[in-house]
Amino acid sequence: MRQVLVLNGPNLARLGSREPEVYGTATFAEMAGACQRAGRELGLAVEIRQTDDEAELVGWVHEAADQRIPVVLNPAAFTHYSYALRDALAMRTAPLVEVHLSNPAAREAFRHTSVVAGVADGTIAGFGVHSYELALRAIAGLSGGDEPGAGPG
Ligand code: DQA
Repeated sequence: MRQVLVLNGPNLARLGSREPEVYGTATFAEMAGACQRAGRELGLAVEIRQTDDEAELVGWVHEAADQRIPVVLNPAAFTHYSYALRDALAMRTAPLVEVHLSNPAAREAFRHTSVVAGVADGTIAGFGVHSYELALRAIAGLSGGDEPGAGPG
């Protein structure tokens, strides 16, 4: 079964209690459950991780590159300024979909820049937990090799 890593950056473990008017009321565990369900439906073995630590996240991205594992990534605040994360992602060897619960383009100006978007196959933002399900669907399509972004996969 095709493995997929769903990686989450800082503060996302606090989903449910973190600014629910922005990020919704689903907890991190509920989001992870939704990803597992979507994975089962799509025939993907999904592993969900979260860290507040940039170095740990970069290490997971290296691991994915070494093992040719597709990644769904919510970089959280790292989206907007982490060139270290961006450079790690540029080494990817399999599909990458950037996700956001909220729609950063409709929020504060500092959220309008993603340093990650340029090295991703695409970005899904603004649909709450559904953003993750849609991203896994995109990964399933990209890994099938029938989409324009299938190159690195
Ligand atoms: C986020 C959006 C980012 O701007 C923010 O820093 C986050 C969450 C989202 O999922 O909407 O932590 O990535």
